[in-house]
Amino acid sequence: MLNTLGDGFVEAVDDSTLLAIADSQPDQSHGLIRGEAIQVPILEAPGQTRVGRFGWKDQHGSLLSFAADAYVNEMGVTSRLRMVDPTSVCKVTSDPEDRPDALGLADIDHFAQFVRGTKVPPRDTLLATTPDAMAGQKVFESIGCNICHVESMTTAPQRTPVNGGMFLVPEALGNKIIHPFGDFLLHQIGTGDGIVQVGPEDTAAKLRTAPLWGLRTKSRFMHDLASLTLEGAIYRHRGEARRVAHDFRALPSVQQQQLIRFLKSL
Ligand code: HEC
Repeated sequence: MLNTLGDGFVEAVDDSTLLAIADSQPDQSHGLIRGEAIQVPILEAPGQTRVGRFGWKDQHGSLLSFAADAYVNEMGVTSRLRMVDPTSVCKVTSDPEDRPDALGLADIDHFAQFVRGTKVPPRDTLLATTPDAMAGQKVFESIGCNICHVESMTTAPQRTPVNGGMFLVPEALGNKIIHPFGDFLLHQIGTGDGIVQVGPEDTAAKLRTAPLWGLRTKSRFMHDLASLTLEGAIYRHRGEARRVAHDFRALPSVQQQQLIRFLKSL
């Protein structure tokens, strides 16, 4: 399950910011790391696309599109943006099930607005300010984890039109420095699930860099939840991340433990 807390800030990041990160990665990694940005349809703005940033495969670029998809795929609730159920077995209601309320807003609209009002869990400041965690962040940066797990980016200025012009970045989300510890781009690190959603064929082998903000609230890691420890998750990084993962393995165990302390403060 992907966390949606703080995703309003991610929606407010301009395409150009994500494309610039992708462009900068080969130079930082001797050409090994190249995040892939894909253009995805904005359901509420027919014919318009945007750089995808939500979902395991970056299959959505707006929170409203993401909500409409989740409502129909995960709960069988059709809406004006997703009128067709994947299955009609046991269906007794008529479509769309999600209709506007007295305010003229459907459930998907309220849901998208709700997510825009949330923040990620704050860092564990006690742990984050220990010498070990602070040293660990330096290690994280020096071996290049931050090439994909990007530490900071700035959202678009307020009133910038995004989502095919259907949403203006509000003051509360505009021009904010965020610390997602992710690039929202697709990478091949050897954990690909073989699934293609909106992107081209090569995305079968890729997954979105997991943003590490809020990491301390999780107990299992990676898209398949098959890693029970942070070390285990790091050891599974191969492909584009092979050099960085190799450098982690080559660290003295003191520095490895510092890096883990840092991750546990996120
Ligand atoms: C080439 C890009 C890349 C680099 C470099 C990279 N990662 Fe990742 N990381 C990813 C991707 C992609 C995923 C998601 C993989 C999946 O879910 O199968 C991920 C997932 C993770 C996760 C699991 C998070 C979760 O919520 O489940 C952790 C922890 C992590 N990385 C830590 C690190 C550390 C520490 C380093 C440096 C040693 C590092 N990564 C370097 C791309 C990268």
